[in-house]
Amino acid sequence: MIRIGMLTSGGDCQALNAAMRGVAKTLYNSKEEVEIYGFLNGYQGLIYGKFKLLNYSDFSGILTKGGTFLGSSRTPFKTIQDPDENGLDKVAAMKQNYYKLQLDCLVILGGNGTHKTANLLSQQGLNVVTLPKTIDNDLWGTDMTFGFQSAVDIATTCIDQIHTTAASHGRVFIVEVMGHKVGYLTLNAGMAGGADIILLPEIPYDVDKIVKKIKERHDRGSRFTIIACAEGAISKEDAKLSKKEYEKKRAKSKYPSVSYELAAQIYDAIGLDVRVTVPGHTQRGGDPCPYDRVFASRLGSEAGMLILKREYGFMVGYKNREIVKVPLEDVAGKLKMVDPKSSIIKEAKKLGISFGD
Ligand code: F6P
Repeated sequence: MIRIGMLTSGGDCQALNAAMRGVAKTLYNSKEEVEIYGFLNGYQGLIYGKFKLLNYSDFSGILTKGGTFLGSSRTPFKTIQDPDENGLDKVAAMKQNYYKLQLDCLVILGGNGTHKTANLLSQQGLNVVTLPKTIDNDLWGTDMTFGFQSAVDIATTCIDQIHTTAASHGRVFIVEVMGHKVGYLTLNAGMAGGADIILLPEIPYDVDKIVKKIKERHDRGSRFTIIACAEGAISKEDAKLSKKEYEKKRAKSKYPSVSYELAAQIYDAIGLDVRVTVPGHTQRGGDPCPYDRVFASRLGSEAGMLILKREYGFMVGYKNREIVKVPLEDVAGKLKMVDPKSSIIKEAKKLGISFGD
């Protein structure tokens, strides 16, 4: 008999259900007797003992469904070792619930924060296997995360829709794409949507360079400009500030985000009509694209196989077109960022895209 617990933690994304179905089907289709418990709303379910015993039919019909049927929540790693408001030791509570249910392994689906806690639980002696989810594609140890391709599709569609209106009205449009720390989503959606300027957290921008690019386009007869701006894009000036100073500055700013500030700066510099569009959480919503359905199913299946082999302490990832297992301690606490010197950035620049640097 194998008894596992499953949970989805952090911001949701597409293909979480597909990944859990992949794990479950692989286990149910094995020769072993299997019991799967689903913890509700991420680590909260594991801490407070909120779970349900799942069966085969719970995993039917969910391959194509967005969101997570277990629910999710953000349980910050920063405070995971602090007692909760009632003095409960959260880590001890998670361990207690794991042992009470006599689990052989926890399957944890999540992004960066989730992996730090998963690694902590693994170090504390629990058997853990994880799967890499996030629209940001910023997890260390894997070339790809599920959710990313679906989000690229949505952000690209948004840029496509804006294109026609921008062209009709001869305006500058800024589309603010998700990604506070890492710009993979903005880079890919920006290129796919034919953005003229792409602004990423990894490449601080100079407003004058952005204005110069817009003017150049106008001088060449283009009436509009599309800017794909990551929500975490930062100016060269602000990049010199400490994290604390920058956060203080943003909190005091009259603009809700960097895109609105940039819009005002562009207007002040050239007097052009600038509009901001923020697709926001629509990028995490809806059903997974076919790529993510296949990818998440494959990762889930490999996780199931690891569990059947009693191999624990790994994230199932994807490297050089192969599914791989990566030790949790290698993943936890590291970010995978866009390399400003990578070939995709060079190619994009050759295509005439400005990064504002
Ligand atoms: O990590 C995924 C993500 O969607 C980021 O791109 C975004 O910055 C953040 O989550 C938003 O978090 P929340 O849903 O908690 O507002």
